[in-house]
Amino acid sequence: MTMSMAATHARGKKAKDNIFVMNARAQEDARKNGKENVLNGTLGSIMDEEGNIVFLKAVEHEYLHLPRNEYTAYAPIAGLPEFLEAAQKECFGESRPDAFISAVATAGGTGGIHHLVHNYTNPEDTVLTADWYWGAYEQICGDNHRHLETYPLFDEKLHFNFDAFKAKALEVAEKQENVVLIFNTPGNNPTGFSLTDEDWDKVIAFAKELVNNGKNKVVIACDVAYIDYSGEKQTVRRFFKKFGQLPKEILVVACYSLSKGFTMYGQRVGAMIGITSDESVNNEFTEINALTSRATWSNICRPAMRTMANIVNDPAKLAAHEKERSEYCELVQERAHIFTEEAKEVGVPCLPYCGGFFLTIPTEHSKEIVEELTKEHVYVIALKHGIRIAACSIPKRQMHGLAKIVYEVMHRLGHL
Ligand SMILES: Cc1ncc(COP(=O)(O)O)c(C=O)c1O
Repeated sequence: MTMSMAATHARGKKAKDNIFVMNARAQEDARKNGKENVLNGTLGSIMDEEGNIVFLKAVEHEYLHLPRNEYTAYAPIAGLPEFLEAAQKECFGESRPDAFISAVATAGGTGGIHHLVHNYTNPEDTVLTADWYWGAYEQICGDNHRHLETYPLFDEKLHFNFDAFKAKALEVAEKQENVVLIFNTPGNNPTGFSLTDEDWDKVIAFAKELVNNGKNKVVIACDVAYIDYSGEKQTVRRFFKKFGQLPKEILVVACYSLSKGFTMYGQRVGAMIGITSDESVNNEFTEINALTSRATWSNICRPAMRTMANIVNDPAKLAAHEKERSEYCELVQERAHIFTEEAKEVGVPCLPYCGGFFLTIPTEHSKEIVEELTKEHVYVIALKHGIRIAACSIPKRQMHGLAKIVYEVMHRLGHL
């Protein structure tokens, strides 16, 4: 009999991470059979065409040349003020909404999702997102004694399923005051889908209607972890403008991350940015989220915050950074399009890719197919209803022909 020392609420928790397990298998295969013979499409980090992890040059240079105290000193709990300013600037670009806005530094974008769930829902409440979602949402909700529920992201035309979203949001609104909605756009993980500006108009109109009933409040979370790899900088940020002058019962929170846009995945830096037309909601946002930081990780990585602030506040550094980043954005998109084009030719289904790091093949047989693909030295991720392919990490030469391999495996198993 196994014994547990864990408190009852913590018993049986498991930090199983299928993605890191699959990556380890790919690496082991590469050691045995040669790196060039193994396709590793597991992790969400950009690899260059030689298979090395990318550290954007402006970031690397700035990070490695900070004054000594920047590496050693504590940062303020809420974050370095210069970083908080820079995070807003980078997050919104030219589309800063007309509202009260403040930011709190978080341990990556993950930290922002955590605080949002923790501080804007009650225990046992439901949080709503689309059915193609990043697995950590469920873990964060579960660990905080909340429930994640979903609606189908796509309608039959593979457009945003507004009707399904609305129906599910109304159900949630029936049973609790705060309706917390997480949107992972642009460049959704795992599909690469982005809401259009018209989709956002409908979501906002619905939120306005809902709060009009005098009973509900709405919190719209935008997880924008992939915003820098989802298209032209100002175009993909245009939707932020729509969050100006909303009713005070609607709070929008952008969960911004330095992991991807500044290739500082391991530094664990991000910011949650609150957008509201009510000053007291804005003040409360800073207070409650900074307190939750204090009560979980205290303050976050100072040198990474300083690095980002220095780059954003120096036009020449920022221009060099953006130039290099947009080249990688194009590279990732090019890789994704190689796959989507070839998938279309051979007849492998693929969900609509607009940007971001990943693509998804919808299938109810993902585990079996993914396992069979490992025999071809191809490593990708099995999701509940699909297979996730990391376009960010697969070089073009390996992307060519991948759809055909997937087709052959799916066909061999009788799943096409
Ligand atoms: C959808 C999504 N949101 C947020 C994040 C946040 O990452 P981090 O905590 O490293 O900023 C990730 C990273 O994988 C992600 O895929």
